[in-house]
Amino acid sequence: MYLTKQDEKILAGEEGFAKQKSMQILAALGKAFDADKLIPIKHAHLSGISYKGLGDAGLEFLNELAKGGTKVAVPATLNPGGVSAKMNPPKEFAEKQAQIISAYKKLGCDPVLTCTPYYFANVQKGDHISWAESSAVIYANSVLGAYTNREGGPSALAAALIGKTPNYGMHLEENRIPKITISVSENLSGFDEFAALGYYVGQNFKEDVINFNFQAKPSVLLPSRFARGKARPSEENLKALCAALATSGNFAMFTLGKKTKETVEIGRKEISAAYETFNSNLEPDLICIGCPHTSVSEIKKIASLLKNKKISEKITFWIFTSEFVRKEISVLEKEIEESGAKIITDTCMVVAPLEEFGFKCMLTNSAKAAFYGRNLCNVETKLSSLEKIIRYAAR
Ligand code: F3S
Repeated sequence: MYLTKQDEKILAGEEGFAKQKSMQILAALGKAFDADKLIPIKHAHLSGISYKGLGDAGLEFLNELAKGGTKVAVPATLNPGGVSAKMNPPKEFAEKQAQIISAYKKLGCDPVLTCTPYYFANVQKGDHISWAESSAVIYANSVLGAYTNREGGPSALAAALIGKTPNYGMHLEENRIPKITISVSENLSGFDEFAALGYYVGQNFKEDVINFNFQAKPSVLLPSRFARGKARPSEENLKALCAALATSGNFAMFTLGKKTKETVEIGRKEISAAYETFNSNLEPDLICIGCPHTSVSEIKKIASLLKNKKISEKITFWIFTSEFVRKEISVLEKEIEESGAKIITDTCMVVAPLEEFGFKCMLTNSAKAAFYGRNLCNVETKLSSLEKIIRYAAR
């Protein structure tokens, strides 16, 4: 991979330890994937923020990077950490988490801890970026029209510190063309159904890019800036699709309504298979909404469904979102919390130390939360619609 004179100097350590390490990571990645050069990026989004995943070795490395005073070269946002005061986290975990956030802040990162940076980051169609949250990567490539590979935490941090990323994979136009179309004959009714579709497709198709055609009219249309006169799923439903595709598969992008040589029909039978995967027999004692973090319009919908209702005392009801969204819905937050549900920011059901809370079964509308809840958090899981979940939990 070609390096400029400046890149070479950084690699030789002339701009300090943090940049040298970062350039080593980017150079190795570029070599492995046969990139021709490094290209400038406009934004980075970093994962590996929760102490649950990062651990003591990761914290030590971060502190080492932050020691020299190097700052990120482009705006960089952070994925959820493992702690919110409203969840009453274990003390030692909370202390370690605070140290992690402090190290990222020293490096110049924006401490809005969310997996939906697309609700506030200044990322436009055509921008090259370096994002590490898999659900956000697909959203960036497919919905925003930005260009990013599925980065890991270290490579996104390296790109943020240098302001560049190796030019390969999803940064190249030729790799963004789908070969297969999934033609969906069902009229999908909401977030959980798009999540189930994504989970099934991710499990059964091993592509980087796939095309969707929705034959039946999806129940909610995109705003006109995306719709161009056609019936398309809402941004929230696309968000559910993105998260589920990235959970069970390797996808980095999908397109909508393109023509491909091969087409595969998918209907109710395939979508139902995903519900069967997450169908615990246990009575749910935990409800988690907000994987990925909820938008303002999702919060509005939850508030209207919970109006004049009370959550059963046997059930913990958590709604995860970003501080950015929470500030926009402060009146609704009060209304929602009067029902007994809690709006939680800075973390999520998967990266928090959920296994230490003793819950038995999580009910959720997200296939990603259902998958990782079961595999990383030691709870059984059940997938359902928001409407059914609220009918189960509240009177
Ligand atoms: Fe976000 Fe956590 Fe889900 S990071 S995508 S809410 S697993």
